[in-house]
Amino acid sequence: MLAVARRQVTVQRTLASALRLSTWSTVPAGPPDPILGVTEAFKADKDPRKINLGVGAYRDEHGKPYVLPSVKEAEKRLAGALDKEYLPITGDASFTKLAAKLAYGPDSTPLAENRVAVTQSISGTGALRIGGAFMARHYPHAKVIYLPVPSWGNHTPIFRDSGFEVRGYRYFDKKTVGLDFAGLKEDLQNAPKNAVVLLHACAHNPTGVDPTPEQWKEISDIIKERSLFPFFDMAYQGFASGDTTRDAFAVRHFVSEGHQTALCQSFAKNMGLYGERVGAFSLIAADPDEKARVDSQLKIVIRPMYSNPPLHGARIAATILGDAGLYKQWEGEVKGMADRIISMRDKLYDGLVALNTPGDWNHIKRQIGMFSFTGLTQPQTKALAEKAHIYMTADGRISMAGLNSGNIEYFAESVSKAVKGDL
Ligand SMILES: Cc1ncc(COP(=O)(O)O)c(C=O)c1O
Repeated sequence: MLAVARRQVTVQRTLASALRLSTWSTVPAGPPDPILGVTEAFKADKDPRKINLGVGAYRDEHGKPYVLPSVKEAEKRLAGALDKEYLPITGDASFTKLAAKLAYGPDSTPLAENRVAVTQSISGTGALRIGGAFMARHYPHAKVIYLPVPSWGNHTPIFRDSGFEVRGYRYFDKKTVGLDFAGLKEDLQNAPKNAVVLLHACAHNPTGVDPTPEQWKEISDIIKERSLFPFFDMAYQGFASGDTTRDAFAVRHFVSEGHQTALCQSFAKNMGLYGERVGAFSLIAADPDEKARVDSQLKIVIRPMYSNPPLHGARIAATILGDAGLYKQWEGEVKGMADRIISMRDKLYDGLVALNTPGDWNHIKRQIGMFSFTGLTQPQTKALAEKAHIYMTADGRISMAGLNSGNIEYFAESVSKAVKGDL
């Protein structure tokens, strides 16, 4: 009898503890974000010489975050004068009109013909997500997307979560630390008809390697011949060369060739509006009627996601883009950021060569935009973090914006030592 009673109590306890189990007890821990992990290691390091080259945000000559003077001026003009009402689902129309003009150009034919469907987005990531969701629902062919190898780390999860099969096309050649153009062409030529191809419009992240205008023309021809669909991600317009028109070359060339491109824009980098989350997604339609139908479906995709986008950043961007004086000032500031990065590339190259660092370092000067793929190996990046307090992603990518005249010499010396095995 006693044994039976005891067994009953045990069963009851097991049941109770089973019932008390947390709903989330089976959720597995996910891997840490590779870039945020770099920032955490940097923060924990107490050495005064430490340098963080992991994060993709511009830093000024003193290593500090930079609020553009044109942004400050726009905020001054906006201060207190406006309400905080909801925006429409597709955002601030004055902003989206100006954003599209910036990307496609003031003399764009599809804009003049009112056949560009455009919506505000939660920065570049949100634009990609809207694009993924819209394409998943309305692209009338197999949902297969080709990404460059390597690509920005968020592209794969964005398109996979949108229901796409994600494949890769060759892009970066480790041997030349440059573009694998032959591999790229071969992979696009062999892609199935109607596959979507993601293209970084300028300042490819993470490699800093862009096709030349001549190579873009060939890519456009292959995409046309193979009936592929060009999907542009333009997160760095102006940031690559310092000239917003030059950086829009690929997008405008494809449009002039009659491609019905998709385009994601971000104002995080070129206006320094990172946390304001300002961006746009657009599609080229055949005529105004098709554009209106696409517009209506963009609203249907966006409404259940987040209802409508945030106000403040879009107002800042629209104020700058819509005022001739502020626009000119902003263009100068974008050029200032790009030029500072280019000057750091020259200084780093000169430093490495002066220190007789083994290897060819020309790629540092050739690469474009915020990032450089240094070619440093994983053991070298590990040694740089542990011995020299210099942090970058394990693949050897550095954010050039983290370098300045105060740390460039120490960085070049440390890299040189790491390559020679002297750290
Ligand atoms: C290639 C690329 N696309 C899109 C983004 C999106 O950035 P955000 O969502 O901050 O505009 C980034 C940011 O680093 C990027 O490098």
